[in-house]
Amino acid sequence: GMTAALLIVLAYLLGSLSGSLLLGRLRGVDIRQHGSGNAGGTNALRTQGWKFALGTVLVDVGKGALAVGLAQRYGGDLAWLPWAAAAAAVLGHVWPVFHGFRGGKGAGTLVGALLMLWPVAVLVLIGVWALVLTIWGYVGLSTILAAASLVPLALLDGAAPLRLGFALVFALFILFTHRSNVARLRAGTESRFERVRLWRR
Ligand code: G3P
Repeated sequence: GMTAALLIVLAYLLGSLSGSLLLGRLRGVDIRQHGSGNAGGTNALRTQGWKFALGTVLVDVGKGALAVGLAQRYGGDLAWLPWAAAAAAVLGHVWPVFHGFRGGKGAGTLVGALLMLWPVAVLVLIGVWALVLTIWGYVGLSTILAAASLVPLALLDGAAPLRLGFALVFALFILFTHRSNVARLRAGTESRFERVRLWRR
């Protein structure tokens, strides 16, 4: 009822607090005007350095975990509510009410939400992400494939329909928010982090 609706709105508002855009205001920079134009940790690292990037990731992961944690704590026994809060936080990050509805791609916020909902999946995500990144050096591709791995993971896990459904929705949504990365990969213009490539091919 009322509480569920409030927790979902709160999750959206928390998601709308963009780490890179809030830190950027302190420093007088809008990272949407630099690098890939994305308001996220990767573009923060690319254009502002590691401290700014670390702050960005901590805020974006933290707000996802907080949004879900509040839904778990105060949402009673509604199994779907923490998942809905996760989705609302990710939507807030991508279309933030506090930043002209132009936010990031949702990966950090999703990781934070999954830390609360499905921690084993975060280990798998990080493993896939790190493997792809150290082979090819493209963060966007790594994020897309890591998110996609949620679906086979849910199937192998014999996950409940709720979990499988959200795994599918999140995998497709991350692919959607990374459509500019897919276009750049196809055009051969995606920026690459050469230094992290341990197994070059
Ligand atoms: O989560 C964002 C990351 O996967 C890609 O960022 O700046 O390379 O588009 P970017």
